[in-house]
Amino acid sequence: MKFSIEETNALIRNRRSIYPTSYSDVPVDENIIRDMLANANWAPTHKLTEPWRFVVFQKEGLKKLAKFQSELYKELSTKAGNFDESKFEKLAIKPLMASHIIAIGMKRNEKELVPEIEEISAVACAVQNMYLTATAYGVGCYWGSGGVTYKTEANAFFGLGPNDKLLGFMYIGNLKSDKWPVGKRTPFEDKVTWVS
Ligand SMILES: Cc1cc2nc3c(=O)[nH]c(=O)nc-3n(C[C@H](O)[C@H](O)[C@H](O)COP(=O)(O)O)c2cc1C
Repeated sequence: MKFSIEETNALIRNRRSIYPTSYSDVPVDENIIRDMLANANWAPTHKLTEPWRFVVFQKEGLKKLAKFQSELYKELSTKAGNFDESKFEKLAIKPLMASHIIAIGMKRNEKELVPEIEEISAVACAVQNMYLTATAYGVGCYWGSGGVTYKTEANAFFGLGPNDKLLGFMYIGNLKSDKWPVGKRTPFEDKVTWVS
């Protein structure tokens, strides 16, 4: 099996998080979304538990997500005494700026075959596959962990049980401009120790 290393390096290093303010109104082709999901499904998974679960919101579904997350935020924050009107409005509006939003869930295996951290790691690998697929298509996306992420009260809405975890949302959209954002990283050498 042979892949071009130049292309692979370029794809990985040019993957960027691109936010809804940069998205156009043109919806992303459903075949691209399906490719993202199919590639997510090829993430590594210890004991083949395949713990990723996705809910794809599109068209009117984006309004349902916006309503659900803003209302749940209102309910929980009012109870906690820290309701913030601007946060509420952001949660009610932001989903409508995306073409598609994929809710990212981790489904715990009933037999708990592997530690939870490995299942979360497997889902993160699946998300990276979605990121790279979108990059290859020139489509913008980003993993957001705001709003109702990690709130168990949200689980049922996303088809998750009490032991599962909502890990956030993949926002997806076509870009308004041809300009692809430039990334920023410190050198990998700073984070690597070699032992010989
Ligand atoms: C688990 C996870 C959660 C993230 N949550 C958010 C978020 O809530 N809001 C946000 O602006 N970016 C979020 N990001 C995206 C990062 O901000 C982004 O990856 C970082 O700025 C580096 O940019 P790049 O992805 O373009 O290299 C998240 C990334 C990961 C891996």
